[in-house]
Amino acid sequence: MPKLFEPLSLARGRAMSNRFMLAPLTNSQSHADGTISDDEFDWLTYQAEGGFGLVMTCAAHVQRVGQGFPGQLGVFSDALLPGLTRLARGIRAQGALSSVQLHHAGIRAPAKLIGGAPRGPPDDAQTGAMALSEVEIEQLIDDFVAAAVRCEKAGFDGVEIHGAHGYILCVGPLDENSCCQLS
Ligand SMILES: Cc1cc2nc3c(=O)[nH]c(=O)nc-3n(C[C@H](O)[C@H](O)[C@H](O)COP(=O)(O)O)c2cc1C
Repeated sequence: MPKLFEPLSLARGRAMSNRFMLAPLTNSQSHADGTISDDEFDWLTYQAEGGFGLVMTCAAHVQRVGQGFPGQLGVFSDALLPGLTRLARGIRAQGALSSVQLHHAGIRAPAKLIGGAPRGPPDDAQTGAMALSEVEIEQLIDDFVAAAVRCEKAGFDGVEIHGAHGYILCVGPLDENSCCQLS
């Protein structure tokens, strides 16, 4: 598989130095306010140092109410920019491309974590989630866009949009055999 070690050029920006990409992995190392911790910075920059052509962050929430896990990295506010900028620089300094996975847990956001009922799109009896109004849907779209712009400002090479597992962009019925179960 010699091609794995060859550079890969993209439509925009720098080329990847090889075709190895670190998958988004929820590492639960951020501070409670969504800022990156030193441990998380070290984990992700070690992956870049280890030779990945692209390093992706864990799922990072674009709204406070979209937090799905304790210790999740946030991208919902400009107050998070210094930590995000440090991370983008740290990954770049090791020669890898960097990407942030944009996420909103929707009805799977634990009420205890977000301090209230989770948000739809639909009402959900199982989780107590409330449906989004049209205005809130517009706000959600704007917040995904704002998070992407924030990541670019921080110096990341790209973003990935998380659309799976019953999170806000692909909500579906949760059943006991589904990977969408709340834990
Ligand atoms: C601990 C752990 C955390 C994960 N976190 C995320 C995540 O934040 N976002 C995501 O899209 N996938 C997440 N995944 C899924 C992985 O990115 C990957 O798609 C999955 O593990 C399948 O790849 P594999 O067969 O190489 O393990 C996670 C997987 C594991 C094991």
